Amino acid sequence: MTDYQGMQARLEADIAAAADLDALEALRVAALGKTGSVSALLKTLGAMTPEERQAQGPQIHSLREGVTGAIAARKAALEGAALEAKLAAERLDMTLPAAAAPVGSVHPVSQVMDELAEIFADMGFAVATGPEIEDDWHNFTALNIPETHPARAMHDTFYFPDKDAEGRSMLLRTHTSPVQIRTMMNAAPPIRIIAPGRVYRSDSDATHTPMFHQIEGLVIDRGIHMGHLKWTLETFLKAYFERDDIVLRLRPSYFPFTEPSAEVDVGYAQEKGRRIVGGNGDDEGHAWMELLGSGMVNPRVIANCGLDPDEWQGFAFGVGVDRLAMLKYGMDDLRAFFDGDLRWLSHYGFGALSVPTLSGGISA
Ligand code: PHE
Repeated sequence: MTDYQGMQARLEADIAAAADLDALEALRVAALGKTGSVSALLKTLGAMTPEERQAQGPQIHSLREGVTGAIAARKAALEGAALEAKLAAERLDMTLPAAAAPVGSVHPVSQVMDELAEIFADMGFAVATGPEIEDDWHNFTALNIPETHPARAMHDTFYFPDKDAEGRSMLLRTHTSPVQIRTMMNAAPPIRIIAPGRVYRSDSDATHTPMFHQIEGLVIDRGIHMGHLKWTLETFLKAYFERDDIVLRLRPSYFPFTEPSAEVDVGYAQEKGRRIVGGNGDDEGHAWMELLGSGMVNPRVIANCGLDPDEWQGFAFGVGVDRLAMLKYGMDDLRAFFDGDLRWLSHYGFGALSVPTLSGGISA
């Protein structure tokens, strides 16, 4: 007769020594599986006489129960140990310093464009956009820029080798003024828009980059005159520079698409090598600085867009965004704007949440 107690003791010893859940499972299959050693004993019961069965049945059943219980106990112990190990390995040390994650910043050009959009929105201007790849009709011809104008020359303008479907030369727009044309062709007056965006010229030194940013302004309505232009520029510059003593000087100038045209200067003072905008440029310690081009929209341009210049008048202006940013935030080399140097960006950049609002202070 089999030594049931000895067998149980050996099995239980093996089970207690199982190193991991896989080893334990192998032991379980070897004992209790279909062809396992304990299962085999259970099958012998069928072939026994009633006396034998009465004597050995309880022993075999208690052997099976003992082994089953031992396996369950070992399984619980192994799982508990695995969980302990995991918890120990993944423990968080709350006293460690936080790992520094790189935080991006808003480029000053983007920030200034947002400031300008906010200021002009308050005066009822919508934001309009146009393509950076323009055709020469929108960029030059419709704006009354003659074939012979130097701005059209190869050395000033980036042309594409192929013409568009209508036979127009394609180029990188040299200013945001083509958005004036696109707006007048697509919307009925009254029109009040600003158009911020990238423009391109074949130019490169400390104050000129081949790509830079402008913001165009356009108003078309009835009875518009230069007083509206001056008020708009003054209101915008006071809000932008956040001071009331902004003094403008309008100098007669020439742009083919405005008539009359005015170059607008602002008074500034030199303080610790920096230009601080404000004050009358004719005052002691002050000077004038050219800031932007402007004028009354040339009636020819209005007619080119299919509007009646006897009914509709307007003004337009164009100003360099990079220049405005440099004046307000004190950077002195324009090229650094587009170098992508993280040290420059983290110094001059803005937090993603410092959204300019008129009520909160435009650059707060
Ligand atoms: N487009 C002109 C430039 O780039 C600026 C300008 C815009 C002048 C609108 C007058 C009116 O120099």
